[in-house]
Amino acid sequence: MRILGIETSCDETSCAIVENGRKILSNVVSSSLKLHAKTGGIIPEIAARQQIKYILPVIEKSLKDSNLYPPNIDAIAITIGPGLIGSLLVGVETAKTLAFVWQKPIIPVNHLIGHIYANWLITSNEQQLTTNKRLAVRSQQLEVVFPAIVLIVSGGHTDLLLMKNHNELKWLGGTLDDAAGELFDKVGRLLNLPYPGGPNIEKVSERGNNSHFTFPRPMISSFDFNFSFSGLKTAVLRQVKAIKELNDEIIADISASVQQAVIDVLVKKTLKAAEKYNVKSILLSGGVSANQKLRDKFQWSIVNNKLSIEFFAPAKNLCTDNAAMITSAAFFNYEPIPWQGITANPELYFD
Ligand code: KG4
Ligand code: ZN
Repeated sequence: MRILGIETSCDETSCAIVENGRKILSNVVSSSLKLHAKTGGIIPEIAARQQIKYILPVIEKSLKDSNLYPPNIDAIAITIGPGLIGSLLVGVETAKTLAFVWQKPIIPVNHLIGHIYANWLITSNEQQLTTNKRLAVRSQQLEVVFPAIVLIVSGGHTDLLLMKNHNELKWLGGTLDDAAGELFDKVGRLLNLPYPGGPNIEKVSERGNNSHFTFPRPMISSFDFNFSFSGLKTAVLRQVKAIKELNDEIIADISASVQQAVIDVLVKKTLKAAEKYNVKSILLSGGVSANQKLRDKFQWSIVNNKLSIEFFAPAKNLCTDNAAMITSAAFFNYEPIPWQGITANPELYFD
């Protein structure tokens, strides 16, 4: 089955065609990130206007890249939320129009669940080599075995879920305030790093000392599966204010230390959930899962604690927003509804 999927929840306009939920036939992503870098954050109105500009060219290119025509497409997948309402509406209304004109079934997809399915996508050898060699090769060979613990770490969300099967998700906990990616973006701004903070903090951390500053690890030993990152942000703010002049060395040390604090909390709580629910797999997903130090710490901790759990993380180019993951989610949770019932829901969460 070939599904054409559309993702427009935030600042990426994307269209993908995926075969049987795993094989990417095309995945076109147009990002307005550079525009937002100028303002240090996303301005919803500008993001929505960019969606309108790029939606049709992106769909046209996706069909062209895959050498397919509408009669070769079996269904349409569309992100209905959560996200920015102006951006979501562009994709939702376009997808409904295509479903109506092409007479195809249409499947609504939760963006967060879409992120999880980046773990099912098979990428080309070339992508494997330029991303995370060992991990990517491993995840091509292994099938996810349920039950699994899922950690979603993105710009807007930090959630831990128990996945007993496709369509059987139980939310265990999430952030009480800032998401992990949001924290990185805010700290990036404090340190005058370009937007988005996450990848830039990872980059400068390479030359920093991760134990130079001792930042708090909020809720690391709490009995629940919730997170809180706003106290960590305040601790970094206080530290930055206490330093008269930020230089490259201090920026690198603060970045490495805050990155380590976030990683320690994410890994410890995820492993605690994995042990409690006796799972077979851990699935990492969302933009922050591109972070190599986070991936390495998961691998290392699983081996070090002698856990018989397989660790999965998406190919790095599929961690941030893209339509291929949305399309995969639609295949494995194939529940089309009449197009009249499809509406954008910016507040959509887990059922
Ligand atoms: O999943 P995503 O593309 O968008 C949302 O749905 O929110 O995630 C974007 C977030 C941003 O906060 C960005 O700073 C963070 O992911 N991010 C990273 C890295 N790459 C992206 N955080 C840490 N390390 C990275 N390499
Ligand atoms: Zn996302």
